[in-house]
Parts: sequence; structure tokens; C-alpha cells
Amino acid sequence: MEHQLVIVLDFGGQYNQLIARRVRDLGVYSEVLSYKTPIEKIKEKAPIGIILTGGPNSVNDINAPIIGREFFEIGIPVLGICYGMQVMGKVLEGEVRGCETREFGLTNIDYKDSFIFDGVDKINDCWMSHGDYVAELAHGFSPIASTSATPIAAMENAEKNLYAVQFHPEVEHTKQGNKILQNFLYKVCGAKGDWKMSSFAEYTIANLKEKIGDKKVLCAMSGGVDSSVAAMLLHKAVGKQLTCVFVDHGLLRKDEGDEVERVFTKEFDVNLIRVNAGDEFLGKLEGVSEPEKKRKIIGEEFIRVFEREAKKIGKVDFLVQGTIYPDVIESGIGDAAVIKSHHNVGGLPDVVDFEAILEPLRDLFKDEVRKVGIEVGLPESLVWRQPFPGPGLAIRIIGDITKEKIEILQLADWIFRDEIEKSGLARELSQYFAVLTGMRSVGVMGDGRTYDYTIAIRAVTTTDFMTADWAKIPYEVLGRISNRIINEGKSVNRVVYDITSKPPATIEWE
Ligand code: XMP
Repeated sequence: MEHQLVIVLDFGGQYNQLIARRVRDLGVYSEVLSYKTPIEKIKEKAPIGIILTGGPNSVNDINAPIIGREFFEIGIPVLGICYGMQVMGKVLEGEVRGCETREFGLTNIDYKDSFIFDGVDKINDCWMSHGDYVAELAHGFSPIASTSATPIAAMENAEKNLYAVQFHPEVEHTKQGNKILQNFLYKVCGAKGDWKMSSFAEYTIANLKEKIGDKKVLCAMSGGVDSSVAAMLLHKAVGKQLTCVFVDHGLLRKDEGDEVERVFTKEFDVNLIRVNAGDEFLGKLEGVSEPEKKRKIIGEEFIRVFEREAKKIGKVDFLVQGTIYPDVIESGIGDAAVIKSHHNVGGLPDVVDFEAILEPLRDLFKDEVRKVGIEVGLPESLVWRQPFPGPGLAIRIIGDITKEKIEILQLADWIFRDEIEKSGLARELSQYFAVLTGMRSVGVMGDGRTYDYTIAIRAVTTTDFMTADWAKIPYEVLGRISNRIINEGKSVNRVVYDITSKPPATIEWE
């Protein structure tokens, strides 16, 4: 599919993926690249525009991430956002200084006439978060917005198609921020709006069909959204030439394995082999409490079981992976510390005999994967399933894992999800689940003493899962959840709500 491209040049800010997603939502394909990407590579990709992102540094620091002047001289329109504006200011020889007081949060802004503010109310609110500001404009620039603390809150050199804003148009708090991005894309860069999920699905299916011909394809399914959508694209492309192996490790949510099997075999007649390996996994996990050890065991066992099943099928030509775009983005700044070793099917290629890997979702963000899922006819219940970690409930049971604990947790988690759906909150929350803590405490039921488990419930809102806020679920809903978990289950006499953001906590408990 031929489509235009906008490059989001990453300086390490927290909203970088959000910028790329907003651009795509506006109908223009975007890619996130590190600020270290050589200019030749950028030119080769022939973008219609470049957006410089925010970042945590000061451009005046000795080792601050920076780009060369030539980025602004190749004739491609540029929009600098926050740190990106300061980069533009500094590199083009304006002056950037530190603010006396950091400007942070919702700020009243006064917009002047500019292409990028077309149709935007002149007095408006924007979201600011900066410690430096452009104090002196570079040659050829004019100021196009101001706030009480920042006289140059936006600037332009319209002749050269260079624009910059000190605030964040990509976040929801900036009213009409989307309009500003849209103006940049359509009025400055000349976007045509050629990025649509319906054409993506159609194009990808046709492309896969041609590439695969009459060869054989194998897909490792975890039951999650990504591998399900990838499998459906392949199924639409080559039908029975595709075999899906669904390794059910017995650590899925209540009834989830059955639902996946039903949808794929009954609704779509996909060649699906379900391997019920719960006992094998439990055996390997017996007595193991350490989170990283659990992850490692499950990751290895998954590959072992998959390999055994794949061997029965014989040689295949292609292996499908549900890799999505956030997995392949190279961040602009440093190497992050390993907080948890994530398990997905990334380790498979070594153990299966195949010619090539197919990654049909490699360019998509999660919300785009969901749109494609709907396009290819998967049910909403499957497409809108929340993210679920590869190791499943194993990392939501603190301490060692037993069949009994899995059942207690499955029921509590199911009740929690049921109440959230009934209360209409499901789409507002990014992820919500129950955790079986390793703790028991004293309670009283009837007239008797109990000494039972504590269930923790966790619900977060987030855009990128790198940072997250705990969700403010109404007390009445929390009350109903707690009552039902204790009354309908056994062995639980206390329910607590996790009110920790990420950071300092992570979303999962292990
Ligand atoms: P954390 O707990 O690191 O989770 O804040 C961030 C997001 O990643 C999911 N998660 C995983 N996903 N394999 C996965 O595919 C894993 O091992 C894994 N561990 C955490 C988590 O559910 C959340 O959405």
C-alpha cells in the first residue's frame, strides 16, 4: 500500500508514541525514529513532514540530544513540540533559557494567526510541561502564541515550513490540539489522508496471499488480541494452509481458552490445534514463588510445548508472529533497565523449522490492531479484550501456584470484570484485574472466625502502559465487587483496592 509518511523524531519524551498515534488517527502513516537517525536515512524515506518530540533534557546541557542544522534545510516541513521547539530554536541560533519557575499543567494561551492555528479558538487552554523556553527567536521566525509565563509559546518560519509549539498538542488537555496537528499535516505538509485500517486489512490480505502462494503457515496463538488478529489475517489470506497452535497453559482467565477455541473453530473454521498443557505447566511451576523464575519457566515451557506440537505438523514454510509496532520502536534515549522479562512468542524462531517469519501487524499500534480485528470480522469481545500478560495468572498469584489458587483467582477476576462491564466503565479503563495476594488474614463470617485470602483488585488508565494512573472507580461499584467476590467465592474474606500509580508500582504485581 503506497502511503505518505510523517516521521516522529524521538528525543525521549513520554508522549512520543501518542504523537505517532494521533497522526495516524488523522489518516497519515507515521513512524517513530530516534533523533540519532542519520539524515540520509530520513531523506530516503521521503517523509512529507517531521515532528520533533518532547524530551527530558535541557538543550543547553553538554550531552543534550540534538540534531544538525541540515534537518531544517532539506525542505521538509517540521513541527517542533516542547523540547522539539527548543531544539529548533537552539540549532537555528535563537536563544533558549531556563524558566525561573517551571510552567506545568493547564495553561491559558493566546494564539495569533498562523496556518497551524486555523479554525482554533484564539483564547484557549493548552497543556504545558517545560523548564526551558525560547527566549530569542532565530532569524526568519515570528512568535505566534503566548502565555503569561512564556512570551514565545509558539513560533513559525512559514516561508520554510518550520513550526514549533512549546505546549503539547497531542494530549487531551490541550483543547483543539488535534486540530493543530491536523492543520500541520494537511495545510503545511499536504497530507492526503491515505492511512485507513480498512485498506490496510485488504492490502495485507492480498499481499500475504501473493507471498505465501500454496505454501504452509504456522501460527503460535496465545489467545491474546495480537496473535488472534494476525491469525485471522492469515486465515483470510490462505485458509486451510494455515495451522494455529494454541498452547493453553491453564493460566488463562475464566473460560477464556474455550472462547478462543469456539470463535476460531466454530465461527471461522480455522485449522486450530488446542493443546491443554495446564498440568505440565503446573508441574514445572510447583513450589516456585519468585516472579522472574515463574516467567522464565513459563516462557521456556511454552516454547517446548509449541515445538513438540509443531513437529507433529512437519515442515512449514512460514511462521507467524503477532509483533506490533510498540515492540519494534527504538527509543531515542538510552537503554532502559530490565524491570520484568516479558514473555511473548518472541523466542520461537530458533526451535521451528521454517523459511521466513511473517509479522503482518509489525507497523500497527494496539488500537489499530483492534480496528483491523473488527474489519476482519472478529467479535468485539475478543478484539476489545484487555492486555493480558503472556505468563497469565501465574504473575497474579503471589507466591507459589496451585490449582486451587488459580480457581479462586479466576472467579474473583471474572466477578470484577463482570461488575465493571455492567457499570459501563469497561472502555474507560485500560486494564483491570484481580490479584491473589499471598496474604491471609482474620475475618468473621456468621459467628465464626475465618482465616482466608486477601484479593487485591487493580484498575488503571494509561495510553502507553509505560506510565499509568490508578482508576477512580466509584465507591458503590467497588462495594458491589467486594461483596460478590467474598460471597460467591470461597477462601476469600478481604478485598483491597490498589491505589498506586506506575511508577512507582508496575501495573502487574509481579
Ligand atoms: P507492567 O506490569 O510491566 O505491565 O507495568 C505493563 C503491561 O505489560 C503487560 N505485561 C506483559 N505482557 N508478557 C506480555 O505480553 C509479559 O510477560 C508481561 N508482563 C506484563 C501488563 O499486563 C501491562 O499491560
